[in-house]
Formats: sequence, C-alpha cells, structure tokens
Amino acid sequence: MSSAHYQALEPQTSDEDNEDIERPLHQNHLRSSYTSSSSSSACNAPHPMVRKASGGVARRRCILPLVGVALFFVAFCYLTLSGDTRIALGLGGGSEDSEEGSHHGLDSINFRPLNESLHICSESYEDRRQFMQDKPRSEYGQLPIIYFVTPTYPRREQIPELTRLAHTLLHVPRLHWLVADDQEKCNGYMDTLLNRFGMPYTHMVSPMPSKFRNEKPAPRGVANRRAALQWLRQHNLTNGVLYFGDDDNTYDLRLFSEIRKTQRVSMFPVGLIADYGVSGPVVRKGKVVAFLDSWVAGRRWPVDMAGFAVNLEYMAQYPYVNMPYKPGYEEDLFLRSIGLQMSLIEPRGNNCTEILVWHTQTKSKKLGMVRLESKYLDDRSNLGALLLNLKLMGVASTTENEGRNALISKNGKEKPHSAILS
Ligand code: UGA
Ligand code: MN
Repeated sequence: MSSAHYQALEPQTSDEDNEDIERPLHQNHLRSSYTSSSSSSACNAPHPMVRKASGGVARRRCILPLVGVALFFVAFCYLTLSGDTRIALGLGGGSEDSEEGSHHGLDSINFRPLNESLHICSESYEDRRQFMQDKPRSEYGQLPIIYFVTPTYPRREQIPELTRLAHTLLHVPRLHWLVADDQEKCNGYMDTLLNRFGMPYTHMVSPMPSKFRNEKPAPRGVANRRAALQWLRQHNLTNGVLYFGDDDNTYDLRLFSEIRKTQRVSMFPVGLIADYGVSGPVVRKGKVVAFLDSWVAGRRWPVDMAGFAVNLEYMAQYPYVNMPYKPGYEEDLFLRSIGLQMSLIEPRGNNCTEILVWHTQTKSKKLGMVRLESKYLDDRSNLGALLLNLKLMGVASTTENEGRNALISKNGKEKPHSAILS
C-alpha cells in the first residue's frame, strides 16, 4: 500500500491569511529529505563537463551517494518489515472485502520509518435498524453518509464510553462508524458489541507506533485516525462527510444534520474546551473571520478535533492528506493538508452560536481487582461469568492472592466466601 497520503503536507497556496503563518517544521524536514534524494538522482545524468574532464572521479562521486541510498532502502525495508510481519503480508489490501490492509507511514517530523499497521477486525455495511428518531430507515435513503471516526484505546472506561456513544449514534441515519482501536490485537468483545448495535461499522486496530508511547505528551488518537483516513482512501470514498468523534465527547443529535450538509469544511464551537469552556470560530456577516480559543500557539486553525467536518469529495482533491504525530497540532496540520482557506469554511450551529458537541472527559481509574478463590468462579453462582465479562471488557480482573479478600455480605454482615459460594 502506498504511503503517499502520509507524506508531506500540500504546499500552501498563498492568500492574505497565510502571511503570518510559519510553515510547520516537519514540512521543511521533508522537503530537505526529498531534495537530497533528488540531487542524488542527478548522478544519472552528470554534468557533461564533469564527465569529460574526469569520468572516473565523477562516477565514484555518483556511486557513493547511490550506495548510501541503497543502504538507506535496505535499512528502511528491514525496519518496516521486521517489526510486524502482518504489514509485509497485508500490502496492497484495498478492495471492499479485503480483510486486512496495511500502510507504511513516514514520520513526517523526523522522516523515520514508523511501523504503522492497520488491521480490520470486523465490519458490517448492513443497517438493521428499523427506525431512527421518528422515521423509518427507508425515508433517509438519499442522505450522504457520515463517516464517524472514533479513535479509542484500551482502558477501564473504554467499553462504557463506546456504549454511551453508540446509543447516541443509533439515533443517526446513514452513518458508518469507524472505530479505530489503539492496540495490536482485535478485542473480540468489541466485535460482538459493535455487531449487536445493528448499524454499519468498521472495527479496526492500529496501534500508536512504540516510539511515541512514552512521549509526554503522546500523540493520542493519531495512529488510529490515520488508519481510518487510510481506510477511506482505500475505499475511494468521495461521497459523504468525515467527522472525527472521540469516544468521550458528548454529541447533540442536531450536530449530525448540521455536518451532513458540509460542502467543503464546516466548523462550529465545541463546549467545555480549556480555559474559556469553549473553542470555535468568530463569525461576522455569516462568514468565519477568526477563532476564539485559549491556546493559539501559532495554529492557523486553532480548533478542536470535534469542531469541524469535511466533505469527502472536497478532501479527495488533496492527495497529501495528513495528520502528523504532533501533539496539539493535529487539527491545524490536518486542515492545512487539505488546503483550507478561511473563505471556504461553512459556519454551522446557527452561525456558531450554539454548542452541538461537548468536550466531556471521563475520570480515569486503574483496573479494578477482585480477590476471590478461583474454585468459586464456576457456574454455582453468577460471579464466574460476570468477572470473566469484566475481564474481557478490560474493567476488572480477579486475583487469588493480591489485596483484601472480596467483600461478600448478607443482611449487612460480611460472610466468608465459602458460606455463600460453595
Ligand atoms: C483533545 C482533543 O479533543 C483530541 O481530539 C486530541 O486528539 C487530543 O486532545 C490530543 O491532541 O491529545 P483529550 O480529551 O485531551 O482530547 O484526549 P483524549 O480524549 O484522551 O484522547 C483523544 C482521543 O484519542 C480519544 O478518542 C481517545 O480514546 C483516543 N486515544 C487516547 C487513543 O486512541 N490512544 C491514547 O493513547 C489516548
Ligand atoms: Mn477527550
């Protein structure tokens, strides 16, 4: 699979809004990398004067960089293929029914191989819902599809968050839910869960490359969003609307009818962001003219991931769509990579006066631990099956010897496990 769309952002076209914007660092890095490789290819046609004067020296001068380039490719192939054989095997996946695809991305900041991978766990194009809101499904047939991309990662709150989000999305017609999990292996519990909802979905895994794991801040949700972008690209989808919807946000149903109208890029305020409790466009006479956000940091588009939607036909014009691993700058650089201009932005939510999405955050706790003798985890009670489910959901695990014995009580009195469970 080509990694073309993970390469450099599109060169910016100039307009008056661009003047005060510095080109992101990584673009310059990439440009110099490309420059050096193209200068080595000039060896194929050395300057005629050089050839005439001392052919041998000229050839040696060319051979050295060529050897360098060859070594670089060998190292590149080794690094990308050795880490994950799945990547090597899955190359070229791209048809609708392909079970497995993969991509090699290049770190757009450091220009180093990344070992990215994309694996489809399960998917369904079937919509088993009879009614959405107050109408039968058939009445929505002609609406453009919303591709709702949810990066998610394993932790105690994952399944509850996804369940809550699913119960919002279940009200939304013509929506394909792309759930991209930041881990190596498919979570079978999640496959069952997503299937049960009965709406079209794709469950994929695409873990954050290990070199970013210990960074602070880490680029959260980037590898998996990139995988979803890859999926959209592989399926040549040019009809519909893309929206990045994190698993912990709160979505008003009006959001979906608003973003479905997106012609190019629509924007709207997000509630509960940082110091101001909001982040979003400033609108005058129906046009976006600036932004209100308490963290500018040189961002041309200082918006939250949940604060915009993109029309896929518009996005398809930009071959270098990119979301780099640069914490805090993902939205800005993504929007730059699709050539956004201020005049193209469609303000939504009653000219950006209403909040249609909230940046709610769930308090995270470490895995629960229940100390119970394994001999009692059989079908004499519900506890074996219940605790197994909690383990599969990544919520709690059981132990025989850590911490205090699990409290089991009756009539307000703690009882020994044997009294209730044997
Ligand atoms: C804010 C923005 O709302 C995010 O869109 C942005 O990606 C993030 O900052 C960032 O730049 O780091 P915030 O609430 O601070 O989001 O972050 P989280 O909700 O923890 O993570 C954003 C998304 O990435 C979530 O859907 C989460 O499930 C996912 N995520 C988080 C991963 O896939 N892997 C991780 O290791 C952490
Ligand atoms: Mn969040």
